[in-house]
Amino acid sequence: MNLTPEFLEELRSRISVSEVVGRRVQLQKHGREHKGLCPFHNEKSPSFTVVDDKNFYHCFGCGAHGDVITFVMETEGLAFPEAVERLAAQAGLEVPKPTVEDRQRAERAKTLGGVVEAACAWYQQNLASADGAGARAYLTQRGLRSKTIANFRIGYAPARRGALLSALRQQGFETQLLVDAGLLKQAENGDGLYDYFRDRVMFPIIDRTGRVIAFGGRILGDGQPKYLNSPDNPLFHKGRVLYGLAQARDAARKANRVVVCEGYMDVIALYQAGIAEAVAPLGTALTEEQIQVLWRLAAEPVICFDGDTAGNRAAVRASARALPMLKPGHSLRFTSLPEGQDPDDFISRNGVEAMQARLRDATAFVDFLWSQEYASAPVDTPERMADFHMRLRSRIKGIADGGVRAAYQDVIEGRIQAERDLARGQRRGGNDRFSGPRRSGDRGQKGVFGKAIGDPSIKQAVERRLSSAAQALLLKVILNHPGLIDEFGEALGYTVLSDQNLDKLRQEILDIAGQDPDLDSDGLKARLAERGHRHISGILSSGHDLKAVAFANPSAPFDKARTGLADLLSNVRVSELDDRLTEVGVNLAETLDEDDWARFLLFKQQEMQVRSQIDD
Ligand code: UTP
Ligand code: MN
Repeated sequence: MNLTPEFLEELRSRISVSEVVGRRVQLQKHGREHKGLCPFHNEKSPSFTVVDDKNFYHCFGCGAHGDVITFVMETEGLAFPEAVERLAAQAGLEVPKPTVEDRQRAERAKTLGGVVEAACAWYQQNLASADGAGARAYLTQRGLRSKTIANFRIGYAPARRGALLSALRQQGFETQLLVDAGLLKQAENGDGLYDYFRDRVMFPIIDRTGRVIAFGGRILGDGQPKYLNSPDNPLFHKGRVLYGLAQARDAARKANRVVVCEGYMDVIALYQAGIAEAVAPLGTALTEEQIQVLWRLAAEPVICFDGDTAGNRAAVRASARALPMLKPGHSLRFTSLPEGQDPDDFISRNGVEAMQARLRDATAFVDFLWSQEYASAPVDTPERMADFHMRLRSRIKGIADGGVRAAYQDVIEGRIQAERDLARGQRRGGNDRFSGPRRSGDRGQKGVFGKAIGDPSIKQAVERRLSSAAQALLLKVILNHPGLIDEFGEALGYTVLSDQNLDKLRQEILDIAGQDPDLDSDGLKARLAERGHRHISGILSSGHDLKAVAFANPSAPFDKARTGLADLLSNVRVSELDDRLTEVGVNLAETLDEDDWARFLLFKQQEMQVRSQIDD
């Protein structure tokens, strides 16, 4: 029998529960409900209730509960298909017969599973054999442990033509099945069949029940295409599957977290680093189905895509997909990685702790949305600011769940209002805010339009002007020449770095230098090591062979280091002046106040001065 959910719905809508129940139980109508004596236990006063438009019955006495089909099953002692058949006859509905195709598909899917599993086992054997030596070396060079290889059932498809076919035919599989599974392909020129995967490392794709359903095959080393994936087959639909789901499931429940990355190798690297709750879509945008699966694993899956344009775009696309689907308690969070790094790279460069910190500090959905709109167009005039607010409001309208939508409206409207209050407060508060450099304390509270400096939109703004590499360089020059802190300490105090790890390091350095101003480079490094900073070596070695940034090297003369640091700080200064110009510009447009105008000109002048210094 081919009982689709659609057919069962149709059946339930054709037959009312009260009609069927009414044949056995005397029912009395009360408004939208019917009441009667419960047929499932002995009672004197009626506690058995039938609600037709909800299509169920419920007994407040014994707790019996069900729909029209279960009622027939229970009272007539029938199995599910029989009850359905009986009701369908009453409703004048034809129970759909399985078509030949249905049966074939079921058969084929069963054996397709068999052939894919057999291929997986064969690829695994191959990896362990003499044929697999090159692939084994490749995997070792990429840092995969043998336990990981076994756990993910990684294998190798040899370069030899026809090897898979002859091995699987010996096991009794039909050639056609291998074609159906996408393991063999018809040659374009009609010249027989060829192996789809040749000379590739094979990553089996495993469904939630642990069955192998498809493969991703990676070329050894460089070359195109880097990965080949099995074509969709009756078992495998790309948009429904998440790579790594089978082993991520338990870990996700335990950690109450699931990490979504982009690639096979990222899932594996995270797993090796002890973050087993990692999955990846298969090179496509995250689908609604995948988001639903993720929400069954954890309330707030963390999106951790590659630190490049494609990765950022994919994260934005995932947020657009998820926005209408948000529901109470369920959301996504977003982590960004340094330019050019994926989780695999990031972990091997910075270690597991740094990865954990990124995941812990992931951006909330609402902040991600805010910064997307903030970054999408300049917000430097009242009209543009109003447009920014309008864009935010219109995006929020797309949230289907009323409760979540209302909460988003509250938060977004609250922030917009807070910005306005701040802008007005600034005007009344005189020019305190603009006199001299702000100290680290209040710099922490206000940034563009008075938003907290921790706000992702500001981080992005700063980041755009001072790349991660430049931030590391800033720390490198101080680490190698701590004597500079004497002169630049104050400027360093308010130069918040958008890379949180680097910023922590900046604060620690200033803290240590405050306690012990005479420390030399080795002393400073030793003190940082005592405080548990283990990743300084990455910073110290960054750009050591680049001439342009040689000023940061230990061997650089002090005055070279000094000018280099001054330049870097000027870059930050421009960014700050820009921010203040925008603030004052907004005020100015609102008030046409003479003081604001004077301030505006002053900052403009300063900015041009600093810029000309940088350009020199
Ligand atoms: P990546 O190129 O980031 O892959 O593509 P990766 O997993 O980090 O691989 P390594 O570290 O370079 O070996 C992300 C994902 O996109 C899909 C794969 O699912 C891959 O894991 N993809 C990528 C393809 O399907 N085909 C390709 O040619 C490239
Ligand atoms: Mn990658």
